[in-house]
Amino acid sequence: MKTYTLNWDTYKQLARTAVAEGAVLLKNEHATLPIQAGTTVSVFGRSQFNYYKSGTGSGGMVNVSHVTSPLEALQATEGVQLNASLLETYETWVEANPFDQGVGWAGEPWSQPEMEVTDELVTAAAKASDVALIFIGRTAGEDRDNTADPGSYLLTDIEQSLIEKVSKTFTKTAVVLNVGNIIDMDWAHQPSAILYTWQGGMEGGTGLVDVLTGAVTPSGKLTDTIAKSIEDYPSTKNFGHADKGIYQEDIYVGYRYFETFAKDAVLYPFGFGLSYTTFTTDVATTGEQDGMITVTVDVTNTGAVDGKEVVQLYVEKPQGTLGNPARSLVAFDKTDTLAPGERATLTLSIPATDFASYDDNGATGHVSSFVLEAGTYELHLGTDVRSARPVFTYNVDSLQVIETLSENMAPVTPFDRIKPVVGEHGYLVEYVPTPLRAVDVEARYLVERPVTRDYVGDNGFTLKDVYAGKVELDAFLDQLTDEDLACIVRGQGMNSPRVTPGTAAAFGGVSDRLTDLGIPAACCADGPSGIRMDIGTKAFALPNGTLLASTFNVELVEDLFEMTGLEMRKNRVDTLLGPGMNIHRNPLNGRNFEYFSEDPHVTGKMAIAQLNGMHRVGVTGTLKHFSANNQEAHRHDIDSIVSERALREIYLKGFEMAVKEGKATSIMTTYGAVNGVWTAGLYDQNTRILRDEWGFDGIVMTDWWAKVNHHEDEPANRQNTAAMVQSQNDLYMVVDRPDTNSFDDNTGAALAAGSLTRGELLRSAANICRFVLQSPAMERELGIHDGTVEVIGLDEEAGQAIDFDVTYRHLENGESVSLSDADTSTGNTHVFAVSVDETGTYDVTITAKSDAGELAQMPVTLFANNIPGPTFTFNGTDGEWVTQTKQVFFLNQHNYLQLYFALGGLDVKDITFTLVDSFSMKNG
Ligand code: BGC
Repeated sequence: MKTYTLNWDTYKQLARTAVAEGAVLLKNEHATLPIQAGTTVSVFGRSQFNYYKSGTGSGGMVNVSHVTSPLEALQATEGVQLNASLLETYETWVEANPFDQGVGWAGEPWSQPEMEVTDELVTAAAKASDVALIFIGRTAGEDRDNTADPGSYLLTDIEQSLIEKVSKTFTKTAVVLNVGNIIDMDWAHQPSAILYTWQGGMEGGTGLVDVLTGAVTPSGKLTDTIAKSIEDYPSTKNFGHADKGIYQEDIYVGYRYFETFAKDAVLYPFGFGLSYTTFTTDVATTGEQDGMITVTVDVTNTGAVDGKEVVQLYVEKPQGTLGNPARSLVAFDKTDTLAPGERATLTLSIPATDFASYDDNGATGHVSSFVLEAGTYELHLGTDVRSARPVFTYNVDSLQVIETLSENMAPVTPFDRIKPVVGEHGYLVEYVPTPLRAVDVEARYLVERPVTRDYVGDNGFTLKDVYAGKVELDAFLDQLTDEDLACIVRGQGMNSPRVTPGTAAAFGGVSDRLTDLGIPAACCADGPSGIRMDIGTKAFALPNGTLLASTFNVELVEDLFEMTGLEMRKNRVDTLLGPGMNIHRNPLNGRNFEYFSEDPHVTGKMAIAQLNGMHRVGVTGTLKHFSANNQEAHRHDIDSIVSERALREIYLKGFEMAVKEGKATSIMTTYGAVNGVWTAGLYDQNTRILRDEWGFDGIVMTDWWAKVNHHEDEPANRQNTAAMVQSQNDLYMVVDRPDTNSFDDNTGAALAAGSLTRGELLRSAANICRFVLQSPAMERELGIHDGTVEVIGLDEEAGQAIDFDVTYRHLENGESVSLSDADTSTGNTHVFAVSVDETGTYDVTITAKSDAGELAQMPVTLFANNIPGPTFTFNGTDGEWVTQTKQVFFLNQHNYLQLYFALGGLDVKDITFTLVDSFSMKNG
């Protein structure tokens, strides 16, 4: 039997290194950083206490035993003294102005009120210390975009005046940004240093302080362009709309736009980041053989301290008839740590075919093809996009067709898109009509449907027989009835009793019939920044996507995700719901923190690194959200109107890389639509591009309770699983009771009506079973591995054991659960789990008694799925049974419950749940 060992200290160290390497130093005048030993530091800003480990929503809900804040890490650093009186002032203020979590889902504010500082306070601080640090914090997330307002994308007046006052008074002021993604930097001229430290997960504080003190020299680079104003981003005017989001900027996203049309609008270019040392990058050799271009670069550390450097290679394509951006990143690499005077040689190799542009209008005579138009392809090498210099020229004498594809996902709504025209001083923006869909997609779909096979009855085959090679997968699946097939395309969640408690979904063996056929239930859990288990199980909180990408260090990310893979094995999670890999189309997107970059190449490489890491230990990740999930506002209804070229060159590109090179086997579609069709039903995307063109043979799942339609004239809804299966999106996420069709989906009806075929269902069932066959869930089913992972170095609390076999007791409405065996002593928690038929608001009644005096207070708090619910405060009852009724909301049918007894002395008899108001995601 294989053995797996997870060394928690290695995990922490890798995350800490990632935090340090992902920090981007934008400015460092007067040698402000690093903080020299023996220096006294004045720390301003409340984020020193309230460090944001991640953004909000599903990607931020990792339960963590401890997050090291920057303050804590600074206090633990020898040689750094903090200005104690300033610290005390802040402590008092923060106590009086506690952190406001907001209310409920997507309710947390983007930022917390900041303390106003007086001139006197700042002057006194400057007298008592040598350096000032100012922490600025921001969060945003799922269902909550940033806005171009103070407190979100902009600084508040108090933050502005804090930076202004401190920067004026101190010679050395470093602003440290604890943010999910870039924010407005209009104030950047004021402080002497600026460090983006993003959201670093549980090791955020330690990694950051390594950079502040110079233990690690910063080597992070921006994965987004910082423009002067939010208005400068070409997508801003088309961001956040309610029904249609028109991608007029086309392929000119981020630096592709700025370097072509608006260089002056850039404050900090893509790829930029300073160091505490200096480097020279000299091209040693360049050459081309059989279309493979190789550039070798000598990188020398010419400064006084150790450091790493990133080199970046951009192509400048000829304009041709299609038009092209002035720069596109085609390769990057990073040195190891170089000592002063040390030199390393990096080799960047890139096939010229990667320079191809997609012709979606036939301008080159080769519609629906990737082509290299004739002309000069200039390669520029540098340490950011702006400073990159020409190093090699590749000439294409006549047009080359690199790949002939077919039209897919083309828009139906007419709109104009950007194309460069030559002006007096460079390129000017011109808007030209975007080519629209020309094929009859329905006719094409009908021709391409799979052959249907009949139900053959029970031949006694199990999935084990398929694994053992005794029977073909198809022959095994032919034993599944239509009902079984309708069931297997349903994922069960959240908090399915079939898999690890508190996770997002089970899939595969989601009914007793299916498990009897030997199909185990596989498990998926959020992602992307650690494992989310809503019953409170602690897990490792990883740095966010933007931070990881800013390291430009694929080996490091790969090593880190090997640890995550081991942790997934420990928690019996087969696929993480990540990497998040949508493009940072606009800085206001609330989920940018989960994603990597405005650039598809960086995005693809980082996703590949994460997958490689997890694949080393036999688990995987789920690429999300496929595709064009670029705003949170109206996310269930937004229709992204985007050209096929922009899809293929920008929005799909990273996914393509992760499928082809990263061998991805799991993908999640989005809540919204692309060109009229909701992606959960988008046949062109889920079958023709993903599988037929890219060769993907894994599973595609919907986002949780997503809407689906089959064509743009059909309204989307949550019951249209027929359209989902037709498109080869295999799994509907999520349903409470897959075996009873508790979500009323239309699979059975569509099958009966003939609009959906058994062949289509068999195809998805095969995709699901193929995935399950390769999963740790199957290893456990077969006894190949028992699921045990030895964990070294984990303290007791974080190392809590999970009960993988929690029993969920099914309750009729109004039924009671006995509490007679509950230990009600002070500080004790009684755990139990119930399944109810309907989700919604319940009256909860506890019957209890106590012999304590009348004024004694014995609070009992109910936590449902780890979310604090009502507190019942009982007084002494003279030994009489009394009842108290409060309300609780069950979002799930399966509920993991905890009763916390804050003070002993109570006898509890039972607890009763009565439905007051039912709520169903299917109508929500
Ligand atoms: C999010 C997904 C997430 C899923 C499960 C959805 O709300 O959009 O990214 O994986 O929930 O938590």
